[in-house]
Amino acid sequence: MKEVERVLRVDHAGEYGAINIYTAQLLIARLFYKDIAAKLEEMLAHEKVHFRTFNNLLISRSIRSCYAIYFWAVGGFTLGLFTALIGRNAIWVCTNSIESTVLHHLEWQLGFLQEHDSEAHAAVLSIKGDEKSHQEFGQNNGKNSFAYKPIFYVVRLATEFAIWLSTKL
Ligand SMILES: [Fe+2]
Ligand SMILES: [Fe+2]
Repeated sequence: MKEVERVLRVDHAGEYGAINIYTAQLLIARLFYKDIAAKLEEMLAHEKVHFRTFNNLLISRSIRSCYAIYFWAVGGFTLGLFTALIGRNAIWVCTNSIESTVLHHLEWQLGFLQEHDSEAHAAVLSIKGDEKSHQEFGQNNGKNSFAYKPIFYVVRLATEFAIWLSTKL
């Protein structure tokens, strides 16, 4: 089914983007904020498992990956780099912004897949707990004060745009 393929493709590309965000942030954190490096490593490890989950599904179903996957990679790395250079608070505001947007989409996907594809539904459900824990950690550790509001909304818009674009490509 075309719509199921689209969902799997977007999630696959999104997890690739997430890996790149955390990789860039970890690079900077290892230099300047060593205290949060372990947490970022843990999140990065989750995203690698998520990516593998969708990558395996794409392979087993012979679904091509998203044409925008390198846009996700470069965009994710750039976003991770910039937020990390602003500071550790920006890292967590960014995490909260992305994951809350992602969770919103996962909810929609789960509702749709429940009716149409139990294997894909199980895959999306398997990542939801991790994304929720990332979102909560970001929310609790990133003060979304006045100065950080623009970061929150810009990252949200960028995430929405990337998701929208990837459903087209
Ligand atoms: Fe993920
Ligand atoms: Fe995540």
